[in-house]
Amino acid sequence: MKQLIAEKFRAVYGRVPEIVAYAPGRIEFIGNHTDYNGGTVLGAALDRGVWVAVAGRADGRRQFASDQRGAPVELRVEEMGKRNGSESWVNYPLGVLAALPVFGAVAPAGFDYLAMSNLPSGAGLSSSAAIELASALAFLEMAGERPLREAVVKIGKHAENHFVGVPCGILDQGVSGFGQKNRLVFIDCRGPVFETVPLPGDAHFWIFNTHTKHALVDGLYAARHRECMAAAQGLGVSLLVEADAAAVEAGKAKLAPEVFKRAKHVVDEIARVDAAKFALAGGDLVAVGRLLTASHRSSQFLFENSTPELDFLVDTLTATAHVFGARLTGGGFGGAVMAMTSGAFGEQEAQAVAVAYREKFGATPDVLHAQTGDGAKLL
Ligand code: GLA
Repeated sequence: MKQLIAEKFRAVYGRVPEIVAYAPGRIEFIGNHTDYNGGTVLGAALDRGVWVAVAGRADGRRQFASDQRGAPVELRVEEMGKRNGSESWVNYPLGVLAALPVFGAVAPAGFDYLAMSNLPSGAGLSSSAAIELASALAFLEMAGERPLREAVVKIGKHAENHFVGVPCGILDQGVSGFGQKNRLVFIDCRGPVFETVPLPGDAHFWIFNTHTKHALVDGLYAARHRECMAAAQGLGVSLLVEADAAAVEAGKAKLAPEVFKRAKHVVDEIARVDAAKFALAGGDLVAVGRLLTASHRSSQFLFENSTPELDFLVDTLTATAHVFGARLTGGGFGGAVMAMTSGAFGEQEAQAVAVAYREKFGATPDVLHAQTGDGAKLL
C-alpha cells in the first residue's frame, strides 16, 4: 500500500512523498454511546483504513488531494476555515492542523498531501477517525515530533470535537490508535485508560453495510449527547457513568420520559461492556453474543438510534445458525450491523442474509468478512 500511495502521490504532484502514515477504521464491538458518558467500551481495529502521504513545500502552500475526489484542494495558510460540500473531507486534516498547537506541536506550513482509503465511508467504521490519526502522525513527523500514542488519539478527537463539530467520545480515535491484530481495545473513557484484550480464536466478524444514512445524522448524534448530559444533570452526577441502574430508576420522576430511556440505555450498556469483557476472558462466546444482541435491543428501544434496516439485519442474523450475536455498530441512525459468528458461518450464509434484505428493502447491503488489524503507524 505504501508503494501504491507513493505512485498516486507522484501522479498528482509529480514527486515522491517524504512521509506515509496509516490508521485503521474500527468496529464498535460493544458500548453504544457510552464513551462521552465516561463509560467503558470495546472496539476492534480493522485491517483496512486510511493512508496519508505528505511532502513539504517551501512556498507555504497547502494542497490536499484524496484518491476518492477530483482535483486537489489548494489552501493558503490564511484560509484555514471550515470547508463545505465536496471539499468537506478536508476538514479532517484541517482540524488536525488546528489541534496541533493546542497540544504544543507545530503545524507544518506548506505541504502536498494525499489521502487514500479502502474503508467504505458512511458505514459507521470510522473513516473520519482514521484520516484524523493518519494525518496527525504525518504532520507530527514533518515537525520532527514523535509523541505518545495517547497524544495522537487526543489530537484526532480534538479535531473532531472542535473543528469538524461532532461531540464524539474517544472510542473511534482510541481504537484506531491502540488497535492490535486479534485483540480488542478496551477503553475506560474517564481516564481515558486504554488496554487490549485477546479475541478468542473462533470469533469472526461480519459487517453488513446498509448504505442508509439518516439525513440528520450529525444533528441526531448531538441531540443524544445533549439528552445524556440532561439525564446526568437531572440525576445530580457530572456524567452518567457515575449513576447505576438503581439510581436511574430512583430518579425516573425527575427525568423527561425520553431522557430516562437514554440514561437507562447508557448505564445498562456500561454494565454489558464489563460483562462482555469478563465473558471474553472466559472464552464464552455464547454469553458475549447474547450481550451484543441485548445491546442492539437497547439501542433500538431505549436509545432509539436504530433503523428498520438495521433491526431487520439483526433479526435475520440472530435467527441464523452459527451467529453468536449481532448489533448496530457506531453512532446509529443508519450505517452498518456487525455480527460475531463462529467459523462455520461463511459467504453462503452471509449472502442469504443479504438476499433477504434485498427482498425486503430492494437494495443490497455490502457484506464484509472483517479482519482485525494493527493501530495507527508511520510506514
Ligand atoms: C460514533 C462516535 C463515537 C461513539 C459512537 C457511539 O462512532 O464517534 O465516539 O460515541 O458513535 O458509541
